[in-house]
Amino acid sequence: MINMSSEEDTPSSCSFSSSSPPPASHFIGKKEDIIKAGRVTKLVNGCRDVLVLYHQGKLHAMDMHCYHSGGALQHGDIEEFNGRMCIVCPWHKYKITLAEGEGLYQAVENPTAKPLRTHWRSKGVKQRIHEVTEVNGDVYITLNNSSETIESDVYQTERYRTVLLKAQSNSKPRK
Ligand code: FES
Repeated sequence: MINMSSEEDTPSSCSFSSSSPPPASHFIGKKEDIIKAGRVTKLVNGCRDVLVLYHQGKLHAMDMHCYHSGGALQHGDIEEFNGRMCIVCPWHKYKITLAEGEGLYQAVENPTAKPLRTHWRSKGVKQRIHEVTEVNGDVYITLNNSSETIESDVYQTERYRTVLLKAQSNSKPRK
C-alpha cells in the first residue's frame, strides 16, 4: 500500500544539493511526478533496472527484480515489520527493507514448543540499494557500484533482460 505524505516532509533517505547533481548520477524524473506515480522503474545507464519509490516522505531506489527469483518489486506492497519499512515481493512475499535491502524473515525460537514463538531476523543485504539525490525538484540516482556481490545482481544481466524476461512475458496467459 502506497502511503503518500506531503512534500514538506524531509526525505531522510535522499541527499540534497542546492546546485548540481552528483557526478555519475542519472536523472530519473521530476520529484512531483514520482510522488504522483508512487513508484517508477527505469533502465539506468543501459545496464540496471531500478525501482524508485516514494513512501511516507522518503525516496528510495533499489534493483527492480527481487533477489529471490526476479519478482517484479514495483508491484509489491510496502509494510512495516519489526519497526522497519519493507517492500513485500508480490511473487513469494519475501520482505526487503527499503533503506538497506536486507531480507527479513521470521525465525521460530523453539520448533517443539507450543505455541510457536517467532521473532524477526535479517538474512543480511540481499537487494542492491542505490543512492537518491534531489536537486531543485529533479531526482537523480547514483548506482551503487560496490564490488561486493549482492544476490539481486543475478537479475541485472543482459541475458536475463533479453532472454528470460521475454520468456516470462510470453508464457503469461493473454487476456
Ligand atoms: S521472487 Fe520475490 S519472493 Fe520470490
